Amino acid sequence: MVRLDRTADLSLSRQLLDSLREAILTGRLQPGTRFPSTRVLSSELGISRNIALSVFKQLTSEGYLHGRVGSGTYVREDLPENFLIASRPTRGPGSITHAPRRVASQARAIVDSMSAYTDSIMNSSRPFHGGLPALDAFPYQLWMRLTAQVWRRLRPRDFAYGDSQGYRPLREAISEYLEANRGVRCTADQIIVVSGSQQGLDLAARVLLNPGDAVWVEDPGYIIARAALLNAGARLVPVPVDAEGLRVEIGLARAPRARMALVTPSHQLPLGMIMTLPRRMALLDWSRRVGAWVIEDDYNSEFRYGGPPLPSLQGVDVTQRVIYMGTFSKTLLPALRIGYLVVPPDLIRLFSVARRALDLHRPLVEQAVLAEFISEGHYARHLRRMRLLYEQRQRALVSAISDELKGIIEIAPAGAGMHLIGWLPPGSNDREAAECALQHDCVMRPLSWFSLECRLRPALVLGYAAFSEREIANGVRRLARALHETI
Ligand SMILES: Cc1ncc(COP(=O)(O)O)c(C=O)c1O
Repeated sequence: MVRLDRTADLSLSRQLLDSLREAILTGRLQPGTRFPSTRVLSSELGISRNIALSVFKQLTSEGYLHGRVGSGTYVREDLPENFLIASRPTRGPGSITHAPRRVASQARAIVDSMSAYTDSIMNSSRPFHGGLPALDAFPYQLWMRLTAQVWRRLRPRDFAYGDSQGYRPLREAISEYLEANRGVRCTADQIIVVSGSQQGLDLAARVLLNPGDAVWVEDPGYIIARAALLNAGARLVPVPVDAEGLRVEIGLARAPRARMALVTPSHQLPLGMIMTLPRRMALLDWSRRVGAWVIEDDYNSEFRYGGPPLPSLQGVDVTQRVIYMGTFSKTLLPALRIGYLVVPPDLIRLFSVARRALDLHRPLVEQAVLAEFISEGHYARHLRRMRLLYEQRQRALVSAISDELKGIIEIAPAGAGMHLIGWLPPGSNDREAAECALQHDCVMRPLSWFSLECRLRPALVLGYAAFSEREIANGVRRLARALHETI
């Protein structure tokens, strides 16, 4: 029943353990069978008695054997595998119902608002996905090293339920970074670590909105964010943008007493303009007068290719009505799912308890690794590298498009961000263009998807940050074939 190979890489105890376990699972050793003693087994197999003892001990702790001193060791009647198999539910007659089932009405609204985000688009990493950083340039080896260090350092007591606001050293690292780089005024106590800005917005909406409250949203604007607002029962008020950012005067005319405004002042999504100082002041002035909240989504402020970014809205707000929202999805990796909110001091408790009610807290290890990554200076270094890389990739996109798509796509370099707007000829259909591009293995979003009411010239939102210059050149060639078919 047991054959040991003394030339194999696997240790003798491992071979013995595996073959006895297999014999039990396949029924060659039946439940109730009495095992030979370790003394007999070790002399028959020519192994030390210690090996036999440790294997018996292991099989006993896994629940395959039981025994008492003096009365021998037996295969258990109730093998552990049997505890894992649930009996199949029997489907009684009439248990299938075809009647329409009631679900929350906003669930339907959310499905409608997200219909453009099919999995094939959302989960793709093909050119020219607009929401992705350079997955190929992330320092994975370094991250693995830090992860190993963190696992070595953490103790069993660290793995109990953690701080719902976030791992303290990470909050400290984030608040230092924000003060130095974004002009955000905050302490680590004001940081709430969340699972990306999406969860941050969901949390802010739960804490700050009542069902039916009006919320100004940029039009065009970030589609998935709208879903979080709808989830809280908000009424979305589209407010157009121009070269200076959100048109505050139109918000005032449409919903002067709205409860909240959601803005991307450092880099408007998708058009990319920076909200000017007068607009920022007008927005803050309105929020102070009517007691509205401003959610500042600072998702992309790090990637500026000429001159420093404007400091955050939060930093110039003296009345503490701005909730600042940041994410590591663009600066590091979306799959990390780590973002954060900076909340005013008087709201800390509300936010941290509401955050606990959501999912208690983010996983510990990733937070600890990220804290190390920032405090050892790797984050700042990575951002510097990515800024240079993205600038090159942007140049590669502009030059490939001027070579291959002259007269079809109009594109201009931009001083910030991770995507460019490729304007199509007036009268063309950007959704059809994006669909046709998909047939040619190019993933992109048409600009019209981002709009609620506004009518914009047709365009494609072309991400460049995640793709090498070669991928960009090949992708543009495929895109050119697609657009020559449709336009
Ligand atoms: C405007 C905007 N905010 C935030 C995010 C990031 O979201 P998350 O942090 O949930 O990954 C994105 C991603 O595309 C975005 O476009």
